[in-house]
Amino acid sequence: VKRGRETWSFINKDMVIGRDRDRDNVVNMLFGSSNNGVVETLSVVAIVGIGGIGKSTLAQYVYNDEKVKIKFDLHIWVWATQNFDNMEILQKILASVTDEKSDQGVLDMLQRQVRRQISGKKYFLVLDNIWDHQNLCLNWAELQNVLLCGAPASRTLFTTRSESVARIVGTKRNPYMLSGLAPEDSWLLFQRIAFRPGQEHGVEAIGKEIARMCGDVPLVVRTIGGLLAEKCTVKEWGAFRDDEFANLSEYGSNIIETLKLSYNPLDPRLKLCFAYCALFPKGWTFGPRGLILIFIALGYV
Ligand SMILES: Nc1ncnc2c1ncn2[C@@H]1O[C@H](COP(=O)(O)OP(=O)(O)O)[C@@H](O)[C@H]1O
Ligand SMILES: [Mg+2]
Repeated sequence: VKRGRETWSFINKDMVIGRDRDRDNVVNMLFGSSNNGVVETLSVVAIVGIGGIGKSTLAQYVYNDEKVKIKFDLHIWVWATQNFDNMEILQKILASVTDEKSDQGVLDMLQRQVRRQISGKKYFLVLDNIWDHQNLCLNWAELQNVLLCGAPASRTLFTTRSESVARIVGTKRNPYMLSGLAPEDSWLLFQRIAFRPGQEHGVEAIGKEIARMCGDVPLVVRTIGGLLAEKCTVKEWGAFRDDEFANLSEYGSNIIETLKLSYNPLDPRLKLCFAYCALFPKGWTFGPRGLILIFIALGYV
């Protein structure tokens, strides 16, 4: 499912629609002094919003901003898994800084290595996708200790769905609450994804209606647009609007309901395979080979 996918720092700027103002706002928060003159030990800015609203995309956009590029000595991108495990986060920081995979498994050594790498340097760290976690408070305090050895002008940006996470990690600063795309940008994104050469004349008008029903949530726009890109006739588009999508509108921008549109038409055996993945914790990494062997052993395929 798209919700747990790993992110990276690279972004094709042409692919980002709208969000220039959001990017500038976040950059200003990064470079501005902290709220209310409160002295912070570590300067942290949070982007908060529902799943699929575009938090990771905005963080990538900020990460690749020219001002951000030239202001810092080190740029570090970390995709946090649901565990918020410091070993994993420190390993990822080290890998990002040194371009080498670290298999250091001793936390004490690892934190010393990271300290050595960032010590006195002005770094920009992105922690993408921080989840609520029972040990978050404790783990964050530990991590903060390591991060504090950077130069004072260092900055940390993180994304999360949860305001309470923003309060724990984000210190005293108000988080940046990210809302949906502007309706015209949502429509632009929809057009880019859904329309293909060879589609019948007349699908545009239906597309406009459907795009409005996507609640300006980019993940929804992309998912729905992707489903429609396969359909060529006005009849198919109309049926999608009236039957498949009509049942959804009462949920507004409920992501799960939307993703179900991709799930429902699957072959029953594929549904089993897909549902099986729910047994793993979110953010779990599994290789395709191992998973296929399990499916075979269970008789699913
Ligand atoms: N401004 C945008 N322009 C184009 N596509 C976007 C934009 N924002 C998000 N998307 C797309 O929508 C999907 C969800 O965005 P993402 O940043 O992963 O959301 P979040 O991190 O909030 O869950 C991704 O496929 C992303 O490429
Ligand atoms: Mg994300």
